[in-house]
Amino acid sequence: MNLIILGPPGAGKGTQAVRLAEGLGIQHLSSGDMLRAERASGTPLGAKVAEYMDSGALVPDEIMIEAILNRLEGGGDTGVLLDGFPRTVAQAESLDEALGKAGRPVDGVLELKVPRGAIVQRITGRRVCPKCNSVYHMEFRRPRQEGVCDNDGEALIHRPDDTEEVIVSRLKNYEKQTTPLTEYYAGKGILHAVDGDGSVDEVCARLERVTRQLSGGR
Ligand code: AP5
Repeated sequence: MNLIILGPPGAGKGTQAVRLAEGLGIQHLSSGDMLRAERASGTPLGAKVAEYMDSGALVPDEIMIEAILNRLEGGGDTGVLLDGFPRTVAQAESLDEALGKAGRPVDGVLELKVPRGAIVQRITGRRVCPKCNSVYHMEFRRPRQEGVCDNDGEALIHRPDDTEEVIVSRLKNYEKQTTPLTEYYAGKGILHAVDGDGSVDEVCARLERVTRQLSGGR
């Protein structure tokens, strides 16, 4: 099954994608994690994408499309859950073309709907592990030991793009560049809006209800 999880910054895409992909036995491909790995490796491309990310702007389509499609080609055929890609109509069209050619179209797009107040609260309290990308929250998902990743003991960090100023710009860019995707996928009859307000478990149960329907109740 090939799925996309869509939603504004801080909606909970990454948190839910990890659980959903594991449950479905499919690959989880996060464009944000991929870009953060690139910048951490210190390549010229990493330095270039860091400038966009830290200002809250989207990385240009030509860079993103090539990077993601290369990863998809390398992946197996069990299916994929895309988190953070596509983010523009041009990215969605390129994805459709590539998956169409490979005979594995997008089965469903899960759109997380979260009120603005909850988004800001989720982003400002987020802490992440720079080593394994695990995501925590100072109030809603606390690590066992304060400031330390449960998985590998690494010190948790505040993402550089999680400042108030950059969050405003990320949300604006989402409205302008990514919301047109809801119309794009609604037109194809594969958009599923899911209430993303509530606990992580509650939202996960709602998403799983949709993926069960998509897989024919299996
Ligand atoms: P990316 O990393 O994809 O960031 P994003 O889309 O802004 O999403 P976030 O990672 O901020 O949030 P999320 O929805 O995954 O929420 P999370 O699960 O962490 O992209 C970063 C940048 O890279 C972009 O700005 C852009 O520059 C670039 N980029 C990436 N993809 C690109 C593309 N395709 N094209 C161009 N540029 C691209 O949850 C947030 C917090 O809330 C966590 O602390 C979590 O613990 C908590 N939480 C989650 N769910 C709940 C819940 N139900 N209740 C309470 N707390 C919750």
